[in-house]
Amino acid sequence: MNILVTGGAGFIGSHVVRKLVTSYPEYHIYNIDALTYAGNLENLSDIEGAQNYTFLKADITDIATINRLFTTYKFDKVVHLAAESHVDRSIEEPLAFIKTNILGTMNLLNACKSIWQDDKKHLFYHISTDEVYGSLGNDGLFTENTSYSPNSPYAASKASSDHFVRAYGETYGVPYIISNCSNNYGPNHFPEKLIPLFINNIIEKKPLPVYGDGNYTRDWLYVIDHAYAIDTILHKGVIGETYNIGGFNEWKNIDLVKLLCTIMDDKLSRKRGTSESLIEYVKDRPGHDKRYAIDSSKINKELGWKPSVTFEEGLMLTIDWYLANTTWLKNVTSGDYQAYYTKMYQS
Ligand code: NAD
Ligand code: DAU
Repeated sequence: MNILVTGGAGFIGSHVVRKLVTSYPEYHIYNIDALTYAGNLENLSDIEGAQNYTFLKADITDIATINRLFTTYKFDKVVHLAAESHVDRSIEEPLAFIKTNILGTMNLLNACKSIWQDDKKHLFYHISTDEVYGSLGNDGLFTENTSYSPNSPYAASKASSDHFVRAYGETYGVPYIISNCSNNYGPNHFPEKLIPLFINNIIEKKPLPVYGDGNYTRDWLYVIDHAYAIDTILHKGVIGETYNIGGFNEWKNIDLVKLLCTIMDDKLSRKRGTSESLIEYVKDRPGHDKRYAIDSSKINKELGWKPSVTFEEGLMLTIDWYLANTTWLKNVTSGDYQAYYTKMYQS
């Protein structure tokens, strides 16, 4: 079986590629990635020589290249993660999100539609987000039946690509599954997102920019648990179904940041309170979603998946990984990223 993973050099994609390459020597895993600022082959250095793994540098918005790769490698299944993934960037540059997240997804769908003959052995599996559902009030959870109500350009682009995936299933018979996951954290997370940005800033004693009053809620899942959920859905998921993935693990940003600060003080042998003194309340994110919370009982009941680590365990593993991989942090935060970061937080 030839399995294509797109965006496999990114945060979640690299954990998915590693899981599939190491668990299924009988499959060949192809990783297509454009290696944008968020993609990094260092994330996969441990498996780069594996017999059942091939990396192909390509941009999913390049129709000719995508069609050529599908014709050459005859992918049986696609696990599609390649995307522009950062909400703040989508507010600055929405067109980049339309291009990769919508048009790139369309190119992959069109390639599958024209090449796949026997529907039964194929699958287009779209990795999506809970942000498509919009924002919750103080109560309730997102279920698979919650209507779409995206608020950021990123969320709108992912909602649009979800709709196209479903439409290609209904109209052309492309076999698909969609999963919508909550906020991931863990090793290899690019330090523009809350947890890795704040870990990096604490190490470097830089300010910790908390948006608005910090009373926004996110539902956090350890990235390796997400990779295992994707593996479960790839093998046991039902065609045409949607699965929500999450860990029933809600945290207000400010509470999470304070916990992170305390653990980091202890790990870095700094006096308790040192990191917390770096917190700065800054201008809020426009259209900031108040609360995300996922009901993941369907994947648990129907496919038997559940998270393997608690948040406290996952956060410790994450912090330890960043402290042991400061060279990775330095490499990914050099170059263009510095200019972007400076612009974001000076405006
Ligand atoms: P990421 O930004 O870390 O990685 C994205 C990867 O896609 C990078 O390797 C990048 O080089 C690649 N890429 C970007 N544009 C491309 C293009 N035009 N052609 C080919 N490759 C391209 O993102 P992530 O956080 O790992 O998210 C992966 C997927 O999971 C995304 O689709 C995202 O919407 C979804 N998701 C993320 C989260 C989360 O918390 N991070 C939660 C739910 C869903
Ligand atoms: O819910 C799933 C989504 O989670 C994914 O689809 C996205 O790809 C992923 O980036 C993430 O989106 P968020 O916007 O929730 O994640 P982020 O880490 O950017 O922000 C988490 C919360 O922290 C959010 O309420 C905004 C806040 N925040 C973020 C940053 C970067 C701050 O207060 N300060 C910051 O500097």
